[in-house]
Amino acid sequence: MKTIIEPFRIKSVEPIRLTSRPERERLIAEAGYNLFGLHSDDVLIDLLTDSGTGAMSSQQWAAVMRGDESYAGSPSFARFEAAVKNLMPFRHVIPTHQGRAAEAILFAIFGGAGKCIPSNTHFDTTRGNIEASGARGDDLVIAEGKDPQRLHPFKGNMDLEKLEAYLEKHRDAVPVVMLTITNNAGGGQPVSLANIRAVAGLAHRFGKPFVIDGCRFAENAWFIKTREEGQAGRSIPEIVRDCFSVADGMTMSAKKDAFGNIGGWLALNDDALAEEARGHLIRTEGFPTYGGLAGRDLEALAQGLSEIVEEDYLRYRIRTNEYIVERLVAMGVPVVRPAGGHAVFIDARAWLAHIPPLEYPGQALAVALYEIAGVRSCEIGTVMFGRAPDGSEHPAAMDLVRLAFPRRTYTQSHADYLLEAFEDLAARKDALRGYRIVKEPKLMRHFTCRFEKL
Ligand SMILES: Cc1ncc(COP(=O)(O)O)c(C=O)c1O
Repeated sequence: MKTIIEPFRIKSVEPIRLTSRPERERLIAEAGYNLFGLHSDDVLIDLLTDSGTGAMSSQQWAAVMRGDESYAGSPSFARFEAAVKNLMPFRHVIPTHQGRAAEAILFAIFGGAGKCIPSNTHFDTTRGNIEASGARGDDLVIAEGKDPQRLHPFKGNMDLEKLEAYLEKHRDAVPVVMLTITNNAGGGQPVSLANIRAVAGLAHRFGKPFVIDGCRFAENAWFIKTREEGQAGRSIPEIVRDCFSVADGMTMSAKKDAFGNIGGWLALNDDALAEEARGHLIRTEGFPTYGGLAGRDLEALAQGLSEIVEEDYLRYRIRTNEYIVERLVAMGVPVVRPAGGHAVFIDARAWLAHIPPLEYPGQALAVALYEIAGVRSCEIGTVMFGRAPDGSEHPAAMDLVRLAFPRRTYTQSHADYLLEAFEDLAARKDALRGYRIVKEPKLMRHFTCRFEKL
């Protein structure tokens, strides 16, 4: 059969409240045209993020009941630790309440004034934690990774020449080399196994530890299996183990590729560093056998880790994005290509070329998508990145709109509904207007600022 179906049946449903277009126009106006200001029950299809929004399986819910809430030595921790170590062979696994808590601990150890930390592209919270420590984060992704239209199988790869030159130049200032798989901030693009090994090799040649931000490790492994030479015949767990066996540690948001609604971990090989990390953990998160989580969460994650590496799931997951990207390309909508792992990115600056960047074409597209179809997306462009620390405003590198897909939550007909919304938008896009910001906070304005239609 050619049709790739959702490889699950639905046992429990969450109704979607259908809204009318006039109702949505009123609701988004009341929210100051900021999609973060909407109540989620006024959203028909919520593509704001894939983080913590996935559906748990019946086996995960069953595991929740097994959760042991002992303060110390819980068997739920033992099961969680074994599930992590089965895929990522690190000596120490330190549970945290989500990914950024693992990052905060990592950079409490490795960060500090005058330090600089390279990655393909640091995710915002990673960069935030690096900068909060006084250090600087630098992005060294390959040139193809910065060009939305350029095709390359591994657009998340680190530029190895740049990394080598960087390590030569900043030899004493680099405490750790990082790599994000898949590269979320770069469009969910994968990193090849060869690149992971080469980055590890370079880091180790310069005597630096190598730490992977592994939030979407299973999606990355699927791309390695299907796109990298010599990998097709291997199982996903084998590929995952290969990726992490060359690293000295990892940070993880279990809200992505562990099918959790909450959770994360920091893993390390070095005994002394792990002891230091556990010291921070006890102060900020909790005792080392639960970290920031309940025993029931640890159980759900242990089960989730066995489900996320199933090939039928990954095939369906990645195919959904490819399907949407193929249809959008056929409609003439400019998108980041090839399709990434967890999201589809629309190039709003190219599609709404009549709206200048400082009138926020990404915001105009995201609001129109909500008004027309009740779909919530996320502007990743000048609203998010356009305000400099000195208060000046400038266009971001790109004006994208991200449609991030929660795991196992929506079906094919939701994808078709989304595509119909784009057909409607394509017919009226030239009439869309830009926006002006009328109220904004000092930091991270995209979450709470208010807009007026121009
Ligand atoms: C690549 C990457 N790293 C880190 C994080 C932070 O994880 P969390 O939201 O669990 O704190 C995210 C979240 O979106 C992410 O995508």
